[in-house]
Amino acid sequence: MNDGLVKKLALTGDLSDGELAELIENGALDGELRLAADERRREIYGDEVFVRGLIEFTNFCKNDCYYCGIRRSNREASRYRLTADEILGCCREGYGLGFRTFVLQGGEDPFFTDEALCPIVACIKNEFPDCAVTLSVGERPYESYKKLRDAGADRYLLRHETADPVHYGKLHPASLSSENRKKCLFDLKSLGYQVGSGFMVGSPYQTTENIVADLRFLQKLDPDMIGIGPFLSHSETPFADFENGTAALTIKLISILRLMFPRALIPATTALGTVDLRGREKGLMAGANVVMPNLSPVRVRKLYELYDNKICTGEESAQCVDCLRARVGSVGYRIVTARGDVKKQTEEARRASSGGHQVN
Ligand code: SAM
Ligand code: FES
Repeated sequence: MNDGLVKKLALTGDLSDGELAELIENGALDGELRLAADERRREIYGDEVFVRGLIEFTNFCKNDCYYCGIRRSNREASRYRLTADEILGCCREGYGLGFRTFVLQGGEDPFFTDEALCPIVACIKNEFPDCAVTLSVGERPYESYKKLRDAGADRYLLRHETADPVHYGKLHPASLSSENRKKCLFDLKSLGYQVGSGFMVGSPYQTTENIVADLRFLQKLDPDMIGIGPFLSHSETPFADFENGTAALTIKLISILRLMFPRALIPATTALGTVDLRGREKGLMAGANVVMPNLSPVRVRKLYELYDNKICTGEESAQCVDCLRARVGSVGYRIVTARGDVKKQTEEARRASSGGHQVN
C-alpha cells in the first residue's frame, strides 16, 4: 500500500486511476482519509450542516429500473400522488421548522407534465422567495427543464447512477440509456441549474473500475451536489437477492469525493442511515455536509419505498428534524437555517490556489 496516497489526494485533489483503485480497495488508510476529508470540509464549510426538506410527491413511475422499488412492474406498490395543496402544506410546515430548501422528488410520473409541475414550482417560489426549490423528477426534454427553470426551480438532482454504459445496461432496461442520462445533466447545467449527480455504491455488477469511471465522469460534469448511497435490495424487484452495498465503502467514497470536490454539497443519505443506524453521523464525520429529512405526509412515507426497511417512515416531520438535529450535534456539527448554496471560489482565490487544491 502506498502510504502517501491520502496526502497526495488532499494536496492535489486527484490521483491516477490505479491509485484511486488502490485507495478504494484497501482499508489501511481509511482513518487517515476520513480525517483529511473532515479537515477539508471544515476549511470550507466549518461545522455547518445544511438541511433539505424532502417531499416525495409521487411514487408513480413509467420506468422499470431493475433496482427500484417504485418501478412500474412492481404491482405490489400502492401508488399515490400529492396534490399541489398538499405539497404546499409540506413546504409551510417545513418553513416553520427552519427549512430553506425544498426538494420535490418523485418517480417519472406522466401526470406531472410541465403544465402541472410549473405552477407548483411557481407557487412555492412565490410564497417562499427566500427558499430554493430543487427538483428530482428524472429525465425530461431540454424544453421541459427550461420551462421548469423559468418557473423558478433553482436546483436539480439527477444521479448518473453509473458512468459505464455497459454497467448501466445491467441495471436498466434497454429503453433507458446512460447517454441520455448524461445529456440531461449537461442540459441542466447549461440552463443554469445548480446540478447534483451521483451513484449507488455496491450496485449489482459494480466493479472498482466502474467507481473510478464514476469519479472521472463527475470531474467532467463538475456538479454542485454529489449524492451517493448504498444500493439496498427491494424484495419486489429483479435485484431482490443481491447483496446490499456497505456503509464502509459509501463512507470511504464520501471522503474521496470531499477531497476531489472540496466545495461540493454532499448529503449523508437516508440509504446510508438505513444500512447502518449511525450511518448518517459517520457520513458527516467523513466529509458530508447535508442531510435531507423527510417532509412528506406520514401516511405516504412507507409507500415511497425504493428499498426495503427504509428508516424514518413513521415519524412526523418535526420529530425527524429534532432527531437529526440531535444526531448532527452528537458528532460535533450544527444544522443551520439557510438555503445552503454551494460556496463558490472567487476568481482571485482560484488564481492564488492554481496548482494547489483542485476547485470545483
Ligand atoms: N425519478 C427520479 C430519478 O430517476 O432521478 C428521482 C427518484 S429516484 C427513485 C432517486 C434515486 O433513488 C435514484 O437516483 C437511485 O440512485 C436511488 N435508488 C433507487 N432505488 C434504490 C435502491 N434499491 N437502493 C438505493 N438507492 C436507490
Ligand atoms: Fe427521521 Fe430520525 S431523521 S426519525
